[in-house]
Amino acid sequence: MKQQLEAIRASAVAAMENAADADALEALRVQYLGKKGELTAVLKQMGKLSAEERPVMGQLANEVRAKLEAAIEARAGELAGKAMAARLLAETVDVTIPGEAHALGKQHPMYQVLDEIKDIFIGMGFEVIEDREVELADYNFTKLNVEEGHPAREWSDTFYFTEDSSILLRTQTSPMQIHAMETRSLPIRMIAPGRVYRKDEVDATHSPMFHQIEGMAIDKGITMADLKGTLNEVVKSLYGEDTVTRFRPHHFPFTEPSCEMDIQCYKCHGAGCPTCKGEGWIELLGAGMIHPKVLEGCGIDSSVYSGWAFGFGLERLALGQYKISDLRLIFENDVRFLEQF
Ligand code: DAH
Repeated sequence: MKQQLEAIRASAVAAMENAADADALEALRVQYLGKKGELTAVLKQMGKLSAEERPVMGQLANEVRAKLEAAIEARAGELAGKAMAARLLAETVDVTIPGEAHALGKQHPMYQVLDEIKDIFIGMGFEVIEDREVELADYNFTKLNVEEGHPAREWSDTFYFTEDSSILLRTQTSPMQIHAMETRSLPIRMIAPGRVYRKDEVDATHSPMFHQIEGMAIDKGITMADLKGTLNEVVKSLYGEDTVTRFRPHHFPFTEPSCEMDIQCYKCHGAGCPTCKGEGWIELLGAGMIHPKVLEGCGIDSSVYSGWAFGFGLERLALGQYKISDLRLIFENDVRFLEQF
C-alpha cells in the first residue's frame, strides 16, 4: 500500500504541475481525489490492514492528500496568473491612437438666427407660441381689420383652399395676434415665429413659402415708446450696441399708428453701399400700436388696454446677417452651403 501511495503521489504531482489549464487541473483532482479517485480507492482498502499498520498508512495517506491538494492550489494560482497576463495583453488599450471623428450636423443658419431672436425675447419675458399654418380668412384678414375686397385678399396673392375664400394658407403671422388675444389672459407678451405663404414666383428675393416672426405686447398703459424701446434693445442685441435705428410712418390695417423700422446699414454706416442699395438704411420690419378695432374684436377693452405689434421676415434677416445674396440658397439645403455657418 505504501508503494501505491508513493506512486500516486509521484504521478499525480507531476501531472498537476504540468496541467495545461484549469479544466485539466480539475480533471486531475477528480481522477485522484474524487469519490471514485485513485487515492480514495487505496484508502478504501485500509480495513484490510493490521492494527499496527493502519495508523502509519493513515498518516501517509493524509500526507499524500495534503501534497496533492497543495499541488492543485499552486498550479491553480500559476494558471490564474497566466490567464490574467494573457487577458491584459489581449485587452491592451492604446490610449495614443487618435479617436474616431464623428461628423456633427449643424443647425440651419436661419434657425440659428431664429434661436438668437427667441433667446432675446424670452429674456425680456415674452412667450414663444407656434401654431397653425392653415388659417381661416377671418383670422388672417377680417379680425385684423383687412376688410372684404382689400387687395391683400386677392386670389392672385393668396393660396385659398375653398371657392368661398374662407380657408387659406396664412399669408402672414399676424393672425397669431388674434389667437393669442382669444386664448390668453392679459397682459400678453408673445412672439410667434412660423411659415407663411404667398403666390410669388421663386427668385433671388422671393419664395412662395417664407418665415415671419410676429411680436405683440398688450397691457395697461403700453405706448409707442415701449415698442421703440423693445425693438431698439432687440436690434442692439442682434447687431451690436452702436446700431442706429429709425422709425418711419407707414400704413397697416391692423395698427394705428403704424410704422416701419429701418436700421442704419451695418456695412457703410449710412454712407450708401451695395448692401443697402445706396440708401444707407435697411428696412427691417413693420410695426405699430394695435388698432382699437382689433382689440375690441377680441373682447379687449381698448379704453383700458393698449398694445403694440410687429412682424418681419426671418429669411431677409438671416440673409443680411450672413451676407447671403440669394434667398434660394436658404431653401435648397445644399450641404456644402449649409456647412459654412
Ligand atoms: N403682417 C405684416 C406683413 O406681412 C407685417 C406686420 C406689420 C406685422 C405691422 C405687424 C405689424 O404685427 O404691426 O407685411
